Amino acid sequence: MPPVQEIRRSSSGRVLWKNLRPVPAGWRSGPVPVCDLAVDGERIAWLGSASQAPAGFQDVPQHDLGGALVTPGLIDCHTHLIHGGQRADEFALRLEGASYEEIARQGGGIVSSVRATRAADEDTLFRQALTRLDALRAEGVTAIEIKSGYGLDLETERKMLRVARRLGQARPVTVRTTFLGAHALPPEYAGRADDYIDLVCGTLLPTLHDEGLVDAVDVFCEGIGFSLAQSERVLRSATQRGLPVKMHAEQLSLLGGTALAARYGALSADHLEWLDEAGVRTMRQAGMVAVLLPGAYYFLRETRVPPVDLLRRHGVPMAVATDCNPGTSPTASLLLMMNMACTLFRLTVAEALDGVTRHAADALGDAGVSGRLAVGHPADFVVWEIDSPAELAYWMALPRCRFAVRQGRIVFQSGR
Ligand code: NIG
Ligand code: FE
Repeated sequence: MPPVQEIRRSSSGRVLWKNLRPVPAGWRSGPVPVCDLAVDGERIAWLGSASQAPAGFQDVPQHDLGGALVTPGLIDCHTHLIHGGQRADEFALRLEGASYEEIARQGGGIVSSVRATRAADEDTLFRQALTRLDALRAEGVTAIEIKSGYGLDLETERKMLRVARRLGQARPVTVRTTFLGAHALPPEYAGRADDYIDLVCGTLLPTLHDEGLVDAVDVFCEGIGFSLAQSERVLRSATQRGLPVKMHAEQLSLLGGTALAARYGALSADHLEWLDEAGVRTMRQAGMVAVLLPGAYYFLRETRVPPVDLLRRHGVPMAVATDCNPGTSPTASLLLMMNMACTLFRLTVAEALDGVTRHAADALGDAGVSGRLAVGHPADFVVWEIDSPAELAYWMALPRCRFAVRQGRIVFQSGR
């Protein structure tokens, strides 16, 4: 297929994309019919099964996609993209027998990334995160969530969130920030977790929210993270400020964080390896998304998979994300996560695709992205160089993205 040299638009911002095959939600092996797609400015104006373009689109610039498969722009709805340094030595230690929890309890783990992130200046964090962001964009990612949580003090949490905002200005990608002050106990608060939660709720969250840096709030509710009571204090202060909440829950043990998050109207609960059927029911009733993070499961060599059958049976939407972070998921490939969600968690290709599109959008709440190719929705889509939709989950980190469109404009083109 020839490259799209220049995307021509009419003076009114209208374009007709012809001869494409949008992968339908719930796709099961089989051919995908061809259609045309009309874009008006930033939104999809029409999607038709023939060349019966609507009035107003007869004379606009046209681009023939030669029957290419098209999906919504991919959305990575759970990342810790910004962090100082790396933790390869801990990986080596784990291979010599230490566990993730032991390393964390001995002052390594998240806290070692906190040290590195505090030490790094803003430009360094920005440059390093930009490399990871560009790797995701090259796979067709058009929206991303980015958490703080490696600062654990006002200055460094602010630095991280400012970098996240800068990334969204430097690149044509939708960035949603999440304040994760309750990620770990900073060393200066050792033995004083409740005092640290005072700081999170009384100073960090209000200040950073007032500075316009926070779109949502997350908590690591876990034995090596924060207790239910401590997590609840954070969720309460977030919701009192009108901020959406989510939770790292039931990753290493069944603590009941999911039910707590549900009581606060959480958008999602994430990880969920230990979630039980009661928790699944609660999620369904609360309309939450289950965010599955196969990279962390894989990298920690967990043996307990999230209860995918139960989530499926109870109709809980499943999202899939990279969890990009230096401790448990050092990856910037959402396509590889699709592959792992299928191979390790037994999602179908359609579920994996939903997981990085419409369900990921739902996990972000009102983020201006929908993860759906439908009239009135943002014109965010990816044109793929593949013959079958199954290739999206089949290749192991071999991106086949030809180009990506966000809000009607080409934002990434392979080989450029
Ligand atoms: O999502 N579970 C807590 N937080 C991260 C890990 C962070 C780290 O180890 O640096 C996660 O797995
Ligand atoms: Fe995470």
